[in-house]
Amino acid sequence: MNIKMENEDKKVEEEAQEDKPITEEIVEKTEEEKTKRRRRSKNQEVRDLGIGIDIGTGFCVSSTIQGDEVTFRTQRDAFFSIENNEMSKGMLDKLDANYIISEDTKKLFVVGEEALQMANVFNKETRRPLSKGCISTREQEALAMIKIIIHGLLGDPITKNEVCYFSVPAKPVDQDDYNVIYHENVLKSFIKSFGYDARPLNESRAIIFSELSDEDFTGMALSFGSGMTNFCLAFMGISENDHMFSVARAGDYIDSSAAAAVGLKASKITAIKEKGIDLLNPNGRDEMAIKIYYDNLIQYVCDALEQKLNSSDTLPNFPEPITIVLSGGTSKPINFDKVFEEAIMKKQFPFKVGKIKLASDQLNAVSKGCLLNALNNYRQE
Ligand SMILES: Nc1ncnc2c1ncn2[C@@H]1O[C@H](COP(=O)(O)OP(=O)(O)OP(=O)(O)O)[C@@H](O)[C@H]1O
Ligand SMILES: [Mg+2]
Repeated sequence: MNIKMENEDKKVEEEAQEDKPITEEIVEKTEEEKTKRRRRSKNQEVRDLGIGIDIGTGFCVSSTIQGDEVTFRTQRDAFFSIENNEMSKGMLDKLDANYIISEDTKKLFVVGEEALQMANVFNKETRRPLSKGCISTREQEALAMIKIIIHGLLGDPITKNEVCYFSVPAKPVDQDDYNVIYHENVLKSFIKSFGYDARPLNESRAIIFSELSDEDFTGMALSFGSGMTNFCLAFMGISENDHMFSVARAGDYIDSSAAAAVGLKASKITAIKEKGIDLLNPNGRDEMAIKIYYDNLIQYVCDALEQKLNSSDTLPNFPEPITIVLSGGTSKPINFDKVFEEAIMKKQFPFKVGKIKLASDQLNAVSKGCLLNALNNYRQE
């Protein structure tokens, strides 16, 4: 399968559980089937039926397929308000930036990647529609912003009620006041309003589908994102609800903690971190602070995994040692897998841990899992 990136800057339970495991063979279609499933959208984009979208705290990623070529489109999940005047609008048009003007307050909001650029120019932080994996309760404009970002990435369906799988986080084990149900249903209603048949899929379970086909969809997937780290333990693609959970800590935690330690803005730490660091060879004071909070996050995640899985009485009997796949933008630094392996091997589980591997595409694996589920729907037609 060829993977095409449309945005180089970085590059979505119930229904999902009824679906069968998916293999990449689903894209091996006959010419006749291909023609039947390929349509043209209103904006002349030709693609096959079925679309996936990963709706994350830091980034949203949609995925479509044409033949055997997958296209990912990415948008930073952020916005920033600037003065509403002709000069601002002219500048934004020149930058070809996404922006909207609020109907009631008349405020001008820059949306997506350019919001981060603007925030850095003004030495301020961007605002985010999601916080720790769910729609932010603190941001008045959160709903309007996330709707714009999602519609921008999905576009219109190419057929009435085209199937769209979207990622949803699992309930965190370390937070009580969490509203995953509200989050999931708001997103579902938005995607439905664009004309799609919107179906939720657990974030880490999507990674099981995209990354563990060689292991018959058996193993554990971890998604180290911005706001959360999500887990899923699956046997032949099936996962019990209590084997999908999360902790409300990930990249944002590293950024804000390291920033407080060295006296910088969190967005500055994000930039240093995303440039690429080696967790076994940090360079200078800022990278050292980032490395310290990486170690702290990995330890926290391994503790939560050990505690939660050892208290479960519904674990399957895995006949073989299980593979763990590490994904999400926060798993990108050099030697992340080595640091994780050292920490997890000190833990006791009711099964044997086998291979630990990084996802083939850590920033797009969730979206691809959503797409594979959507395509599977048309294969079953
Ligand atoms: N090269 C990199 N090195 C380190 N961290 C990175 C890199 N690229 C992106 N990140 C970080 O990865 C995180 C985004 O990852 P991802 O897109 O998987 O999260 P998300 O899906 O938006 O969030 P969540 O799943 O928590 O809702 C951010 O914290 C970002 O700073
Ligand atoms: Mg994510």
